[in-house]
Amino acid sequence: MTAREKLEGTELPRIVVPPPGPRSRNAARRLRRREGAAIWGAEQSPIVWSRGRGAVVLDLDGNRYLDLTAGFGVLSLGHAAPEVARAVSAQSRKLTQGLGDLMPHETREKLVRRLVSLGGPLDRALLASTGAEAVELALKTAHLATGRRRVVAFTGAYHGQSYGALAVTDDPGLGRPFAAQIPDLAVRVPYPYAYRCPLARGCGGRCDLRCLDAVKETVDRELHGSDPPGAILVEPIQGRSGCVMPPPEFLPGLRAFARERGLLLILDEVMTGGGRTGPFWEWQRHGEDAAPDLLVAGKGIGGGVAIAAVLGRAKIMEAWRKHILPSGEAPHSSTFYGHPIACAGALKALDRLAAPETRAHVERVGAKFAAGLRAVQERSRVVGEVRAAGLMAAVELVRDRESREPAPDRTGRAVAALLQQGVLAYPGGVHDNVICFTPPLTITEEQIEFAVSVMERVLQSC
Ligand SMILES: Cc1ncc(COP(=O)(O)O)c(C=O)c1O
Repeated sequence: MTAREKLEGTELPRIVVPPPGPRSRNAARRLRRREGAAIWGAEQSPIVWSRGRGAVVLDLDGNRYLDLTAGFGVLSLGHAAPEVARAVSAQSRKLTQGLGDLMPHETREKLVRRLVSLGGPLDRALLASTGAEAVELALKTAHLATGRRRVVAFTGAYHGQSYGALAVTDDPGLGRPFAAQIPDLAVRVPYPYAYRCPLARGCGGRCDLRCLDAVKETVDRELHGSDPPGAILVEPIQGRSGCVMPPPEFLPGLRAFARERGLLLILDEVMTGGGRTGPFWEWQRHGEDAAPDLLVAGKGIGGGVAIAAVLGRAKIMEAWRKHILPSGEAPHSSTFYGHPIACAGALKALDRLAAPETRAHVERVGAKFAAGLRAVQERSRVVGEVRAAGLMAAVELVRDRESREPAPDRTGRAVAALLQQGVLAYPGGVHDNVICFTPPLTITEEQIEFAVSVMERVLQSC
Protein backbone atom coordinates (compact mmCIF):
# COMPACT_ATOMS: atom_id res chain seq x y z
CA MET A 1 0.00 0.00 0.00
CA THR A 2 1.61 3.24 -1.08
CA ALA A 3 0.71 6.66 0.28
CA ARG A 4 -1.28 7.36 -2.88
CA GLU A 5 -3.37 4.18 -2.91
CA LYS A 6 -7.00 4.78 -2.17
CA LEU A 7 -8.28 3.45 1.13
CA GLU A 8 -11.96 2.46 1.33
CA GLY A 9 -12.02 1.48 5.00
CA THR A 10 -13.59 -1.91 4.26
CA GLU A 11 -10.33 -3.71 3.42
CA LEU A 12 -8.79 -6.60 5.31
CA PRO A 13 -5.31 -6.32 6.82
CA ARG A 14 -2.14 -6.59 4.79
CA ILE A 15 1.19 -6.84 6.58
CA VAL A 16 4.15 -6.01 4.35
CA VAL A 17 6.83 -5.56 7.05
CA PRO A 18 6.78 -7.36 10.42
CA PRO A 19 5.46 -4.70 12.80
CA PRO A 20 6.84 -2.47 14.14
CA GLY A 21 8.71 -1.78 10.92
CA PRO A 22 11.78 0.48 10.74
CA ARG A 23 9.87 3.71 10.05
CA SER A 24 7.59 3.13 13.02
CA ARG A 25 10.51 2.24 15.26
CA ASN A 26 12.45 5.34 14.28
CA ALA A 27 9.51 7.71 14.69
CA ALA A 28 8.63 6.14 18.06
CA ARG A 29 12.23 6.47 19.20
CA ARG A 30 12.34 10.17 18.24
CA LEU A 31 9.02 10.80 19.97
CA ARG A 32 9.94 8.90 23.09
CA ARG A 33 13.15 10.90 23.41
CA ARG A 34 11.28 14.22 23.42
CA GLU A 35 7.92 13.42 24.99
CA GLY A 36 7.30 13.39 28.74
CA ALA A 37 7.72 9.91 30.21
CA ALA A 38 4.13 9.92 31.50
CA ILE A 39 2.77 8.64 28.21
CA TRP A 40 5.32 5.84 27.69
CA GLY A 41 5.17 2.45 29.39
CA ALA A 42 8.01 -0.04 29.80
CA GLU A 43 10.41 -0.44 26.89
CA GLN A 44 8.09 -0.77 23.93
CA SER A 45 8.20 0.04 20.28
CA PRO A 46 4.69 0.63 19.04
CA ILE A 47 3.56 0.96 15.46
CA VAL A 48 3.03 4.60 14.47
CA TRP A 49 -0.24 5.37 12.70
CA SER A 50 -0.15 7.47 9.57
CA ARG A 51 -3.56 7.32 7.93
CA GLY A 52 -6.94 5.72 8.48
CA ARG A 53 -10.31 5.20 6.85
CA GLY A 54 -13.29 3.28 8.16
CA ALA A 55 -12.11 0.29 10.17
CA VAL A 56 -8.66 0.37 8.59
CA VAL A 57 -5.50 2.14 9.71
CA LEU A 58 -2.06 2.28 8.10
CA ASP A 59 1.27 2.53 9.85
CA LEU A 60 4.33 4.40 8.64
CA ASP A 61 5.72 1.21 7.09
CA GLY A 62 2.68 0.70 4.86
CA ASN A 63 1.14 -2.10 6.95
CA ARG A 64 -2.64 -2.12 6.84
CA TYR A 65 -4.50 -3.07 10.02
CA LEU A 66 -8.06 -3.86 10.91
CA ASP A 67 -8.68 -1.48 13.81
CA LEU A 68 -10.85 -3.02 16.53
CA THR A 69 -9.91 -0.24 18.95
CA ALA A 70 -11.39 2.76 17.09
CA GLY A 71 -9.10 4.91 19.24
CA PHE A 72 -10.66 3.56 22.49
CA GLY A 73 -14.12 3.77 20.93
CA VAL A 74 -13.88 7.38 19.74
CA LEU A 75 -14.01 6.62 16.01
CA SER A 76 -17.57 5.39 16.15
CA LEU A 77 -18.05 6.05 12.44
CA GLY A 78 -14.57 4.87 11.58
CA HIS A 79 -11.36 6.71 10.76
CA ALA A 80 -11.85 9.92 8.79
CA ALA A 81 -15.62 9.46 8.51
CA PRO A 82 -16.42 11.45 5.35
CA GLU A 83 -19.46 13.31 6.74
CA VAL A 84 -17.56 14.31 9.91
CA ALA A 85 -14.54 15.37 7.82
CA ARG A 86 -16.76 17.51 5.57
CA ALA A 87 -18.49 19.16 8.55
CA VAL A 88 -15.17 19.85 10.29
CA SER A 89 -13.68 21.22 7.12
CA ALA A 90 -16.66 23.52 6.44
CA GLN A 91 -16.63 24.77 10.04
CA SER A 92 -12.88 25.39 9.90
CA ARG A 93 -13.52 27.83 7.04
CA LYS A 94 -16.40 29.51 8.86
CA LEU A 95 -15.66 29.95 12.59
CA THR A 96 -12.94 28.24 14.59
CA GLN A 97 -13.28 29.53 18.14
CA GLY A 98 -16.05 30.81 20.38
CA LEU A 99 -15.95 32.93 23.50
CA GLY A 100 -16.88 30.43 26.21
CA ASP A 101 -19.34 31.82 28.74
CA LEU A 102 -19.35 35.27 27.13
CA MET A 103 -20.46 34.72 23.53
CA PRO A 104 -21.78 31.42 22.22
CA HIS A 105 -21.82 30.44 18.59
CA GLU A 106 -24.40 29.01 16.25
CA THR A 107 -23.02 25.46 16.04
CA ARG A 108 -22.88 25.13 19.84
CA GLU A 109 -26.55 26.06 20.00
CA LYS A 110 -27.38 23.39 17.43
CA LEU A 111 -25.30 20.71 19.15
CA VAL A 112 -26.79 21.32 22.60
CA ARG A 113 -30.29 21.13 21.13
CA ARG A 114 -29.41 17.92 19.28
CA LEU A 115 -27.94 16.32 22.38
CA VAL A 116 -30.98 17.02 24.53
CA SER A 117 -33.21 15.73 21.73
CA LEU A 118 -31.46 12.38 22.30
CA GLY A 119 -31.52 12.60 26.09
CA GLY A 120 -35.07 11.42 26.89
CA PRO A 121 -35.90 12.98 30.26
CA LEU A 122 -32.47 14.63 30.39
CA ASP A 123 -33.33 17.97 28.87
CA ARG A 124 -30.28 20.10 29.62
CA ALA A 125 -26.68 19.70 28.48
CA LEU A 126 -23.27 21.13 29.25
CA LEU A 127 -20.28 20.53 27.01
CA ALA A 128 -16.71 19.49 27.72
CA SER A 129 -13.72 18.34 25.71
CA THR A 130 -12.81 15.07 27.46
CA GLY A 131 -14.61 12.38 29.39
CA ALA A 132 -12.76 13.21 32.60
CA GLU A 133 -13.71 16.87 32.32
CA ALA A 134 -17.35 15.90 31.82
CA VAL A 135 -17.22 13.51 34.80
CA GLU A 136 -16.00 16.38 36.95
CA LEU A 137 -18.71 18.65 35.59
CA ALA A 138 -21.26 16.02 36.64
CA LEU A 139 -19.66 15.75 40.11
CA LYS A 140 -19.80 19.54 40.50
CA THR A 141 -23.43 19.60 39.34
CA ALA A 142 -24.37 16.86 41.81
CA HIS A 143 -22.62 18.70 44.62
CA LEU A 144 -24.43 21.94 43.86
CA ALA A 145 -27.77 20.17 43.57
CA THR A 146 -27.46 18.10 46.76
CA GLY A 147 -25.13 20.15 48.93
CA ARG A 148 -23.16 16.92 49.54
CA ARG A 149 -19.59 16.39 48.46
CA ARG A 150 -19.16 12.62 48.53
CA VAL A 151 -20.16 10.17 45.81
CA VAL A 152 -20.82 6.45 45.82
CA ALA A 153 -18.45 4.89 43.27
CA PHE A 154 -17.66 1.31 42.30
CA THR A 155 -14.76 -1.11 42.45
CA GLY A 156 -13.08 -1.38 39.05
CA ALA A 157 -14.56 1.96 37.97
CA TYR A 158 -12.78 4.07 35.38
CA HIS A 159 -13.81 7.70 35.05
CA GLY A 160 -10.62 9.34 33.79
CA GLN A 161 -7.34 10.64 35.15
CA SER A 162 -7.68 14.28 36.14
CA TYR A 163 -7.79 14.78 39.92
CA GLY A 164 -11.55 14.81 40.40
CA ALA A 165 -11.97 11.87 38.05
CA LEU A 166 -9.17 9.94 39.79
CA ALA A 167 -11.02 10.42 43.08
CA VAL A 168 -13.84 8.24 41.75
CA THR A 169 -11.76 5.94 39.51
CA ASP A 170 -10.67 2.71 41.20
CA ASP A 171 -7.23 2.00 39.84
CA PRO A 172 -4.59 2.04 42.55
CA GLY A 173 -1.76 2.11 40.02
CA LEU A 174 -2.98 5.36 38.48
CA GLY A 175 -4.00 7.00 41.74
CA ARG A 176 -1.17 6.00 44.09
CA PRO A 177 1.47 8.54 42.96
CA PHE A 178 -1.03 11.35 43.61
CA ALA A 179 -2.75 9.97 46.68
CA ALA A 180 -1.73 13.01 48.72
CA GLN A 181 -3.46 15.33 46.26
CA ILE A 182 -6.58 13.41 45.26
CA PRO A 183 -9.69 14.45 47.18
CA ASP A 184 -11.35 11.84 49.34
CA LEU A 185 -14.74 11.79 47.60
CA ALA A 186 -15.57 8.15 47.00
CA VAL A 187 -17.68 5.81 49.07
CA ARG A 188 -16.47 2.61 47.40
CA VAL A 189 -18.91 -0.24 46.79
CA PRO A 190 -18.61 -3.54 44.83
CA TYR A 191 -19.48 -3.70 41.12
CA PRO A 192 -21.27 -6.81 39.89
CA TYR A 193 -18.47 -8.73 38.19
CA ALA A 194 -20.17 -12.13 38.12
CA TYR A 195 -17.18 -14.05 36.71
CA ARG A 196 -15.01 -12.95 39.65
CA CYS A 197 -17.63 -12.01 42.20
CA PRO A 198 -16.04 -11.73 45.64
CA LEU A 199 -19.46 -12.14 47.24
CA ALA A 200 -20.60 -15.21 45.27
CA ARG A 201 -18.81 -17.92 47.22
CA GLY A 202 -21.28 -20.58 48.20
CA CYS A 203 -23.90 -19.79 45.57
CA GLY A 204 -22.25 -21.64 42.69
CA GLY A 205 -21.35 -18.55 40.68
CA ARG A 206 -25.01 -17.71 40.13
CA CYS A 207 -25.51 -13.96 40.40
CA ASP A 208 -27.98 -13.25 43.16
CA LEU A 209 -27.19 -9.51 43.23
CA ARG A 210 -25.46 -9.62 46.59
CA CYS A 211 -23.44 -6.66 45.43
CA LEU A 212 -26.61 -4.60 45.18
CA ASP A 213 -27.42 -5.57 48.77
CA ALA A 214 -23.86 -4.65 49.73
CA VAL A 215 -24.24 -1.27 48.00
CA LYS A 216 -27.45 -0.62 49.89
CA GLU A 217 -25.92 -1.58 53.23
CA THR A 218 -22.86 0.61 52.77
CA VAL A 219 -24.84 3.56 51.49
CA ASP A 220 -27.41 3.33 54.26
CA ARG A 221 -24.63 3.28 56.83
CA GLU A 222 -22.95 6.30 55.22
CA LEU A 223 -26.23 8.18 54.98
CA HIS A 224 -26.40 8.12 58.77
CA GLY A 225 -22.85 9.45 59.08
CA SER A 226 -21.57 13.01 59.27
CA ASP A 227 -20.53 13.24 55.59
CA PRO A 228 -23.28 11.47 53.63
CA PRO A 229 -22.94 10.95 49.87
CA GLY A 230 -25.23 12.87 47.51
CA ALA A 231 -24.96 10.76 44.37
CA ILE A 232 -24.18 7.35 42.92
CA LEU A 233 -21.81 7.31 39.94
CA VAL A 234 -21.73 4.16 37.84
CA GLU A 235 -20.75 2.84 34.42
CA PRO A 236 -23.69 0.78 33.09
CA ILE A 237 -21.02 -1.56 31.66
CA GLN A 238 -17.46 -1.16 32.90
CA GLY A 239 -15.30 -0.51 29.86
CA ARG A 240 -11.69 -0.30 30.87
CA SER A 241 -12.20 -3.05 33.43
CA GLY A 242 -12.92 -5.36 30.52
CA CYS A 243 -16.51 -4.91 29.39
CA VAL A 244 -17.84 -6.07 32.74
CA MET A 245 -21.59 -6.41 32.41
CA PRO A 246 -23.94 -6.37 35.38
CA PRO A 247 -26.97 -8.65 35.42
CA PRO A 248 -30.03 -6.97 33.87
CA GLU A 249 -31.69 -6.33 37.23
CA PHE A 250 -28.76 -4.34 38.58
CA LEU A 251 -29.21 -0.93 36.98
CA PRO A 252 -32.98 -0.69 37.51
CA GLY A 253 -32.42 -1.85 41.10
CA LEU A 254 -29.77 0.80 41.66
CA ARG A 255 -32.01 3.44 40.06
CA ALA A 256 -34.89 2.55 42.36
CA PHE A 257 -32.64 2.56 45.42
CA ALA A 258 -31.15 5.97 44.54
CA ARG A 259 -34.66 7.37 44.15
CA GLU A 260 -35.81 5.93 47.49
CA ARG A 261 -32.84 7.44 49.31
CA GLY A 262 -32.93 10.81 47.54
CA LEU A 263 -29.53 10.24 45.90
CA LEU A 264 -28.77 11.36 42.36
CA LEU A 265 -27.89 8.64 39.87
CA ILE A 266 -25.07 9.62 37.52
CA LEU A 267 -24.39 7.25 34.64
CA ASP A 268 -20.98 7.40 33.05
CA GLU A 269 -21.75 6.48 29.44
CA VAL A 270 -18.48 7.83 28.06
CA MET A 271 -17.69 4.36 26.71
CA THR A 272 -21.16 2.88 26.26
CA GLY A 273 -23.02 5.92 24.88
CA GLY A 274 -23.59 6.99 21.29
CA GLY A 275 -24.89 3.59 20.26
CA ARG A 276 -21.82 1.47 21.02
CA THR A 277 -23.79 -1.22 22.86
CA GLY A 278 -26.93 -1.21 20.68
CA PRO A 279 -29.33 1.32 22.17
CA PHE A 280 -28.20 4.93 21.84
CA TRP A 281 -27.61 5.04 25.61
CA GLU A 282 -27.03 1.78 27.43
CA TRP A 283 -29.60 2.71 30.12
CA GLN A 284 -32.33 2.70 27.45
CA ARG A 285 -32.08 -1.10 27.33
CA HIS A 286 -33.96 -1.07 30.65
CA GLY A 287 -36.65 1.47 29.73
CA GLU A 288 -37.45 4.92 31.11
CA ASP A 289 -37.45 3.63 34.68
CA ALA A 290 -33.67 3.29 34.53
CA ALA A 291 -33.09 6.85 33.30
CA PRO A 292 -30.39 8.61 35.32
CA ASP A 293 -30.47 12.11 36.76
CA LEU A 294 -27.18 13.01 35.10
CA LEU A 295 -25.40 11.28 32.23
CA VAL A 296 -21.80 11.69 31.14
CA ALA A 297 -21.01 11.17 27.46
CA GLY A 298 -17.80 11.45 25.45
CA LYS A 299 -15.68 9.36 23.08
CA GLY A 300 -17.94 8.07 20.26
CA ILE A 301 -20.56 10.84 20.33
CA GLY A 302 -18.18 13.04 18.33
CA GLY A 303 -17.37 10.53 15.59
CA GLY A 304 -13.68 11.38 16.02
CA VAL A 305 -13.63 14.93 17.40
CA ALA A 306 -12.77 15.81 21.01
CA ILE A 307 -16.13 16.43 22.61
CA ALA A 308 -17.89 15.29 25.77
CA ALA A 309 -21.04 16.33 27.56
CA VAL A 310 -23.14 16.11 30.68
CA LEU A 311 -26.85 15.67 30.14
CA GLY A 312 -29.18 16.22 33.06
CA ARG A 313 -32.67 16.84 34.27
CA ALA A 314 -33.51 20.54 34.22
CA LYS A 315 -34.20 20.74 37.95
CA ILE A 316 -30.74 19.44 38.78
CA MET A 317 -28.85 21.40 36.13
CA GLU A 318 -30.56 24.59 37.33
CA ALA A 319 -28.59 24.29 40.60
CA TRP A 320 -25.80 26.20 38.86
CA ARG A 321 -27.98 29.27 38.57
CA LYS A 322 -27.65 30.11 42.27
CA HIS A 323 -23.90 30.34 41.81
CA ILE A 324 -23.65 33.06 39.20
CA LEU A 325 -20.81 35.25 40.46
CA PRO A 326 -21.54 38.70 41.92
CA SER A 327 -19.85 40.18 38.86
CA GLY A 328 -22.46 38.43 36.69
CA GLU A 329 -19.85 35.96 35.48
CA ALA A 330 -20.87 32.36 34.79
CA PRO A 331 -19.85 29.78 37.40
CA HIS A 332 -18.31 27.53 34.74
CA SER A 333 -16.34 27.99 31.55
CA SER A 334 -13.21 26.98 29.72
CA THR A 335 -11.29 28.35 26.76
CA PHE A 336 -12.32 25.55 24.43
CA TYR A 337 -15.87 25.18 25.79
CA GLY A 338 -18.07 24.02 22.91
CA HIS A 339 -15.24 24.33 20.42
CA PRO A 340 -16.87 25.09 17.06
CA ILE A 341 -14.96 22.47 15.08
CA ALA A 342 -15.77 19.76 17.62
CA CYS A 343 -19.40 20.89 17.76
CA ALA A 344 -19.70 20.71 13.96
CA GLY A 345 -18.19 17.22 13.77
CA ALA A 346 -20.33 15.90 16.63
CA LEU A 347 -23.50 17.42 15.21
CA LYS A 348 -22.96 15.52 11.99
CA ALA A 349 -21.86 12.31 13.72
CA LEU A 350 -24.93 12.23 15.97
CA ASP A 351 -27.26 12.13 12.97
CA ARG A 352 -25.67 8.95 11.68
CA LEU A 353 -25.18 7.39 15.14
CA ALA A 354 -28.84 7.89 16.00
CA ALA A 355 -30.13 6.56 12.67
CA PRO A 356 -32.09 3.28 12.86
CA GLU A 357 -29.83 1.73 10.18
CA THR A 358 -26.77 2.31 12.36
CA ARG A 359 -28.53 0.75 15.36
CA ALA A 360 -29.54 -2.27 13.26
CA HIS A 361 -26.01 -2.67 11.90
CA VAL A 362 -24.53 -2.59 15.42
CA GLU A 363 -27.00 -5.24 16.61
CA ARG A 364 -26.40 -7.50 13.61
CA VAL A 365 -22.61 -7.25 13.39
CA GLY A 366 -22.28 -7.21 17.19
CA ALA A 367 -24.28 -10.45 17.44
CA LYS A 368 -22.06 -12.03 14.80
CA PHE A 369 -18.92 -10.93 16.66
CA ALA A 370 -20.21 -12.26 19.99
CA ALA A 371 -21.22 -15.59 18.43
CA GLY A 372 -17.83 -15.91 16.75
CA LEU A 373 -15.93 -15.17 19.95
CA ARG A 374 -18.10 -17.65 21.89
CA ALA A 375 -17.32 -20.32 19.30
CA VAL A 376 -13.61 -19.56 19.81
CA GLN A 377 -14.15 -19.86 23.57
CA GLU A 378 -15.65 -23.32 23.19
CA ARG A 379 -12.53 -24.56 21.46
CA SER A 380 -10.08 -22.91 23.84
CA ARG A 381 -8.98 -23.70 27.39
CA VAL A 382 -7.68 -20.21 27.99
CA VAL A 383 -10.80 -18.13 27.34
CA GLY A 384 -12.50 -17.70 30.70
CA GLU A 385 -15.34 -15.52 29.58
CA VAL A 386 -16.58 -13.66 26.51
CA ARG A 387 -18.61 -10.52 27.21
CA ALA A 388 -20.29 -8.45 24.55
CA ALA A 389 -22.97 -5.82 24.09
CA GLY A 390 -23.42 -4.44 20.59
CA LEU A 391 -19.93 -3.61 19.37
CA MET A 392 -18.28 -3.47 22.79
CA ALA A 393 -16.71 -6.84 23.48
CA ALA A 394 -14.05 -8.49 25.58
CA VAL A 395 -12.34 -11.85 25.98
CA GLU A 396 -11.03 -12.63 29.45
CA LEU A 397 -7.98 -14.92 29.39
CA VAL A 398 -7.11 -17.33 32.19
CA ARG A 399 -4.42 -19.93 32.93
CA ASP A 400 -7.15 -22.56 32.62
CA ARG A 401 -10.90 -22.45 32.86
CA GLU A 402 -11.10 -24.45 36.09
CA SER A 403 -8.87 -22.18 38.19
CA ARG A 404 -9.96 -18.93 36.46
CA GLU A 405 -6.55 -17.58 37.41
CA PRO A 406 -6.00 -14.37 35.39
CA ALA A 407 -3.38 -14.66 32.62
CA PRO A 408 -2.05 -11.14 31.99
CA ASP A 409 1.14 -12.39 30.31
CA ARG A 410 -0.89 -14.52 27.88
CA THR A 411 -3.10 -11.49 27.20
CA GLY A 412 -0.06 -9.36 26.36
CA ARG A 413 1.18 -12.07 24.00
CA ALA A 414 -2.24 -12.42 22.38
CA VAL A 415 -2.59 -8.67 21.76
CA ALA A 416 0.93 -8.63 20.26
CA ALA A 417 0.16 -11.67 18.10
CA LEU A 418 -3.06 -10.08 16.86
CA LEU A 419 -1.04 -7.05 15.82
CA GLN A 420 1.37 -9.27 13.88
CA GLN A 421 -1.67 -10.65 12.03
CA GLY A 422 -2.93 -7.13 11.33
CA VAL A 423 -5.68 -6.89 13.95
CA LEU A 424 -5.59 -4.11 16.55
CA ALA A 425 -7.10 -4.69 20.00
CA TYR A 426 -6.06 -3.49 23.45
CA PRO A 427 -5.55 -5.04 26.86
CA GLY A 428 -7.75 -4.11 29.82
CA GLY A 429 -9.33 -5.58 32.91
CA VAL A 430 -8.57 -5.12 36.58
CA HIS A 431 -6.07 -8.00 36.25
CA ASP A 432 -4.78 -6.89 32.82
CA ASN A 433 -6.05 -10.16 31.41
CA VAL A 434 -8.81 -9.00 29.08
CA ILE A 435 -8.59 -8.37 25.33
CA CYS A 436 -10.88 -5.41 24.64
CA PHE A 437 -12.62 -4.59 21.36
CA THR A 438 -14.40 -1.34 20.53
CA PRO A 439 -14.39 -1.36 16.72
CA PRO A 440 -15.97 1.35 14.59
CA LEU A 441 -19.74 0.86 14.54
CA THR A 442 -19.48 0.83 10.74
CA ILE A 443 -17.20 -2.23 10.58
CA THR A 444 -18.31 -4.73 7.95
CA GLU A 445 -19.42 -8.32 8.55
CA GLU A 446 -16.51 -9.54 6.48
CA GLN A 447 -14.04 -7.62 8.64
CA ILE A 448 -15.61 -9.00 11.83
CA GLU A 449 -15.46 -12.57 10.47
CA PHE A 450 -11.81 -12.04 9.64
CA ALA A 451 -11.09 -10.74 13.16
CA VAL A 452 -12.73 -13.80 14.70
CA SER A 453 -10.69 -16.14 12.50
CA VAL A 454 -7.49 -14.39 13.60
CA MET A 455 -8.55 -14.61 17.27
CA GLU A 456 -9.05 -18.36 16.82
CA ARG A 457 -5.55 -18.78 15.40
CA VAL A 458 -3.88 -16.52 17.91
CA LEU A 459 -5.46 -18.12 20.96
CA GLN A 460 -4.29 -21.56 19.85
CA SER A 461 -0.68 -20.44 20.19
CA CYS A 462 -0.78 -18.11 23.22
C1 LIG B 1 -16.36 5.19 31.33
C2 LIG B 1 -15.31 6.25 31.13
N1 LIG B 1 -15.42 7.43 31.74
C3 LIG B 1 -14.52 8.42 31.58
C4 LIG B 1 -13.43 8.22 30.78
C5 LIG B 1 -12.42 9.32 30.63
O1 LIG B 1 -12.49 9.86 29.37
P1 LIG B 1 -11.26 10.72 28.79
O2 LIG B 1 -10.16 9.75 28.57
O3 LIG B 1 -11.81 11.31 27.53
O4 LIG B 1 -10.94 11.74 29.81
C6 LIG B 1 -13.27 7.01 30.11
C7 LIG B 1 -12.11 6.78 29.24
O5 LIG B 1 -11.77 5.69 28.89
C8 LIG B 1 -14.23 5.99 30.28
O6 LIG B 1 -14.13 4.81 29.66
